[in-house]
Amino acid sequence: MGMQRLRKFGSQRSLEQIFEANEGRLIHKWMHYFDIYERHFKPFRYQSPRILEIGVSHGGSLDLWQEWFGPGAHITGVDIDPRVKALAKRDIEIRVGDQGDPNFLGKLADNDGPFDIVIDDGSHRPAHQLLTLQKLWPAMNTNGVYLVEDLHTNYRQEYDGGLRRSDTFIEFVKPLIDDLHAFHTRAEDFEPSIWTRTLGGVHLYDSVVVLDRADREVPLHRKTGRPTFDTLYGRDISDILDEDHLALIQQMNRMHRRAIRALKSPVESGRKLIQRFR
Ligand SMILES: C[S@@+](CC[C@H](N)C(=O)[O-])C[C@H]1O[C@@H](n2cnc3c(N)ncnc32)[C@H](O)[C@@H]1O
Repeated sequence: MGMQRLRKFGSQRSLEQIFEANEGRLIHKWMHYFDIYERHFKPFRYQSPRILEIGVSHGGSLDLWQEWFGPGAHITGVDIDPRVKALAKRDIEIRVGDQGDPNFLGKLADNDGPFDIVIDDGSHRPAHQLLTLQKLWPAMNTNGVYLVEDLHTNYRQEYDGGLRRSDTFIEFVKPLIDDLHAFHTRAEDFEPSIWTRTLGGVHLYDSVVVLDRADREVPLHRKTGRPTFDTLYGRDISDILDEDHLALIQQMNRMHRRAIRALKSPVESGRKLIQRFR
């Protein structure tokens, strides 16, 4: 596809196809990430999303996102290495800064947000990953996707990690499962938190966590259709059935009881049947 056509209509290639054919700037990705990206980023493809990637390195992943998300995608790349400044181009902004610096992150949120997608592929230090989430989560659009990658580093000492070390990003994520259910828990000392109200889902993969940004209220449930039996969850519901419906269910119950009797004593039932037709 010519460059002009690509700019106008966007690429039809998958992320993995773009990656495999890449002869441009270096991209470094674990191969199983491509399915995760496709699954969670697809709703934003060709929708002119605002994307933030922390960790630019040689700039190849910024080009990958630009081609895949299509025309109108606006991408901000962040890196601590000032050399990346030169990689800015149309629809790709570059900010040089440290994701461990709360002031830098605050300015990033104010000037470049709100974001539809945040990809944290920066220092891979748990303290930075947590600070970045804390500062950028409020700068996400509703229905946005926050993705942290290379979380295997949370298990490695050289990245300030370790199995079940309490201050890692992985350990922060585990209790989010309870926050997600706080509208339903009956424990007195557990209230819905800001996470209960803003988190739509938590997705865990090998080395990747995806958090869905949502605006949540107390969930509702409803019933549609008509009952099949005259009890629901063990309770009698004949008061909510009209006469015809109740008569049908009772007829079905009689047939059901008859079938059970026949099955209990099939020889006896067979004999009765033969007698009746003699
Ligand atoms: C794994 S590379 C990014 C790879 C790139 N996203 C890709 O897919 O090809 C990590 C980058 O994070 C940058 N980095 C490291 N510490 C950082 C920090 N504290 N703040 C911002 N960027 C940082 C490094 O300079 C490096 O370029």
